[in-house]
Amino acid sequence: MLPYQIIEKKSKGKELSNEEIIFFIDCFTNGSIPDYQMSALLMAMFIKGMTTEETLALTKTMLESGERMDFSHLDGFVADKHSTGGVGDKVSLILAPILGALGVHIPMISGRGLGHTGGTLDKLESIPGFNVNLSNEQFKSMVENDFVSLIGQTGNICPADKKLYALRDVTATVRSIPLITASIMSKKIAEGINGLVLDVKVGNGAFMTAYKDAQKLAESLVSVGKQYGIKTVALLTDMNQPLGNAIGNWLEVEECIECLKGKGPEDLMDVTLALGAEILKMRDPKLLMEDAIKMQMDVLESGTAMDLFVKITKIQGGDVSVLLDPKTRGESPAKMDVIANQDGYFESVRTMDLGFAAIELGAGRKTMTDEIDPLSGFIIHKKLGDKIARGDVMMTIYAKDEKLAQAVHEKVKDYFYFTDKAIDETYPHIYEIIN
Ligand code: URA
Repeated sequence: MLPYQIIEKKSKGKELSNEEIIFFIDCFTNGSIPDYQMSALLMAMFIKGMTTEETLALTKTMLESGERMDFSHLDGFVADKHSTGGVGDKVSLILAPILGALGVHIPMISGRGLGHTGGTLDKLESIPGFNVNLSNEQFKSMVENDFVSLIGQTGNICPADKKLYALRDVTATVRSIPLITASIMSKKIAEGINGLVLDVKVGNGAFMTAYKDAQKLAESLVSVGKQYGIKTVALLTDMNQPLGNAIGNWLEVEECIECLKGKGPEDLMDVTLALGAEILKMRDPKLLMEDAIKMQMDVLESGTAMDLFVKITKIQGGDVSVLLDPKTRGESPAKMDVIANQDGYFESVRTMDLGFAAIELGAGRKTMTDEIDPLSGFIIHKKLGDKIARGDVMMTIYAKDEKLAQAVHEKVKDYFYFTDKAIDETYPHIYEIIN
């Protein structure tokens, strides 16, 4: 088979066979097909779309590019949560220790920043020393004994996703239902889980900006999960503004610490607890929603979820002193406020552009080899619907120097929109559950 012919076939919108998909992905993973040919095929898949058959074949090939974990010998429930990607979406870091503290085993395989969205691995690595590259044995042992382990795709687990993910990140080929489905589900199936809750983001900061597309993505993810015998539920949640207040790796970890101390922002906690409740209800179908929420609140109030986060960090080589006293991590040398230039009500924000602006600051990558600046990002001080007075601080920029802060300020100062009329609608955090 010739890579050239496969790219050409897909670029004409024709359906690829299982053999062609297996050949292409396997050769890309072992290095015999170069990035430029893979990028061309990704773009053809992105533009022409893929059938259900092709999506399943891609998922299976990516899954089989590495090993699959097996936790069937454990008595407990083994589950995970994954998001389709958003701005300020730090739910995994809060939810994994909450569920672990409630006895759910969480073998979490995550990704790095993708497109304009942040990634769990980059957030974790903003904790000095945190190692997301454990061996299979270390990962398994943590999941069994400590309930939670947080790692990335490795040479052993989903290596195809690791390479494809990095390439999609910089070639604008993320926003595709089949490519997102295969990327997420190959990692999740490889984890050997019984239950999966998916946070499908919708809105102007999500890959799926249109509601119908987000529904289609949720259905695609849930249907692949079910075909592999995993109890799978998707929640459609709002991404028309950043989730919580922080955007940027360490700033988000700091916010997670507040959440784990029971002091998190309402939108972030609502989404986190709703996702967690789905997992707890999968484990115990008789459990009522309110009890599932209360159980999670209890482990936040008692400190056991925070203690588990500290324990996981320690085992994975992270410096726990910065979790216990976040101020010791230091902060960006340059800070600059974005000020409201009129009175009114906060009507909308260009969420995706804020994500791209965070990349400008160094919180994400422009090319595959870029280094992340862990301290840079934004803190948003207002939520949609808030009454705003001219001169209010809408957001603070954290940058590595004044020049960069100024350059980013020049762009983001125009990302906030106001209206004269009071906004009486409430902004939903969760729209719909798809199972
Ligand atoms: N998360 C993933 O793991 N992959 C995607 O493609 C999008 C979000």
